Amino acid sequence: MRRYHVTTFGCQMNAHDSERIKGMLEELGLGETHTAEDADVLVFNTCTIREKPDTRLAAHLGNAKALKERDPERVIAVGGCYAEAQRERIFAQYPFVDVAFGPGSIPHLAEWLGAGGHGIARSSFGIAEERRFAATLPSSRERPFQAWVQVSMGCNSKCAYCIVPAVRGREVSRRPGEIVAEVTRLAAEGVKEVTLLGQNVNSWGRDLRADLDTEFGELLRACDAVDGIERIRFTSPHPKDFREPVIAAIAECDAVCEHIHLPLQSGSTRILKSMRRTYSRERYVALVEKLRAAIPDLALGTDIIVGFPGETEEDFGETLAVVDEVGYDSAFTFVYSPRAGTEAAAMPDQVPDEVKRDRIERLVEVVQRRARERNDARVGLVEEVLVEGPSRTDPARLRGRTRRNTTVNFTGDARPGELVLVEIDAATSTTLGGSRAVLVAA
Ligand code: SAH
Ligand code: SF4
Ligand code: F3S
Repeated sequence: MRRYHVTTFGCQMNAHDSERIKGMLEELGLGETHTAEDADVLVFNTCTIREKPDTRLAAHLGNAKALKERDPERVIAVGGCYAEAQRERIFAQYPFVDVAFGPGSIPHLAEWLGAGGHGIARSSFGIAEERRFAATLPSSRERPFQAWVQVSMGCNSKCAYCIVPAVRGREVSRRPGEIVAEVTRLAAEGVKEVTLLGQNVNSWGRDLRADLDTEFGELLRACDAVDGIERIRFTSPHPKDFREPVIAAIAECDAVCEHIHLPLQSGSTRILKSMRRTYSRERYVALVEKLRAAIPDLALGTDIIVGFPGETEEDFGETLAVVDEVGYDSAFTFVYSPRAGTEAAAMPDQVPDEVKRDRIERLVEVVQRRARERNDARVGLVEEVLVEGPSRTDPARLRGRTRRNTTVNFTGDARPGELVLVEIDAATSTTLGGSRAVLVAA
């Protein structure tokens, strides 16, 4: 049996694409191996959002080159966003690569490999021609009770720092009937938690026909109505697209979790404008208040970039102030990384590296302090936890996630996939601790 190995970089969309790549390879009769050395087909599903994933990929490809020298029959495939961004250069850069494919061309990989997979002239498939939803392919999921569901591909925003629109193309929404059919099928297979995925998930539906019910809130309601789905999450929404019907649907649907990822990027209206985020500091904070008023016990996550071109100490101070004011439950913090071809990469006033490093350290401090306070407030409460498996730090305990998306390590018996009640007795800035609650009948 020929065997494959997939290495995934980047966001949840890429992780989901990898499930499709694996499903497709399995349908072609290949089996998965967990070590690259044993694989006949090596796939790298790449990310190019910042410089760091590019550098990590280069190291991985160095290994792949050595493996290919040992066994020239081995097939090396590079897919995903880096492949798309470098489509002109990838074979010159890495001559041992056999096939390159963009995120919209995953179905072509099967055709190419199915036709032999080696001995064929090098090919590269890009998004420019014809993009297809990977969501229509077979899939290989990591956990039987959780699933990602792709609702759209691409992004129509023009955030000045971001490479995604260039590599994932214009936004195309999947039809609601197809999405609900997939959720229904997943529920029948035992899935309890679905995460709806789109680069700009809450702008879903704008490009579909006017006679279809296509507004993100309606989609949430339709998924909520599927029997067996206990938890619905979605990522990543854009603050500009949180209209009233979406907020109402989150508040009213039992399965939609009390957790929203609300990318801030910067707390300075001046920088937000230069980033082309289309909201101001005031509008963002007002949205937070509106969401918290409508959805009791809401947890908020965010993404923040420091050192965007032209960011002054004063601008950065505004970011710190918003983080302090909002009090996020979790936050991903990034040092701005110029990406070739984006608007911001060509801007004057690039911020020096040492300034960026100093700012991110100060930002992380405030993020962690506020997150710790938020988690401390959970101590003494009983939380519903979806069990995922053994704890990563202490195998004698279990690990799962609350509806508010916080990881909980706890003692007590339970099976992965089970929903249990956990009494919280400890907190850090990123996790909670506790023990399975014993319910005493009155
Ligand atoms: N579609 C999602 C995810 C975009 S990428 C969204 O719009 O939220 C995830 C995060 O990476 C972004 O929210 C941003 O904070 C960060 N990011 C994107 N481009 C970046 C760059 N050039 N440098 C640093 N961080 C970046
Ligand atoms: Fe990038 Fe902005 Fe689109 Fe998100 S909304 S993917 S940050 S362009
Ligand atoms: Fe990276 Fe592409 Fe996602 S650039 S963050 S894998 S959309």
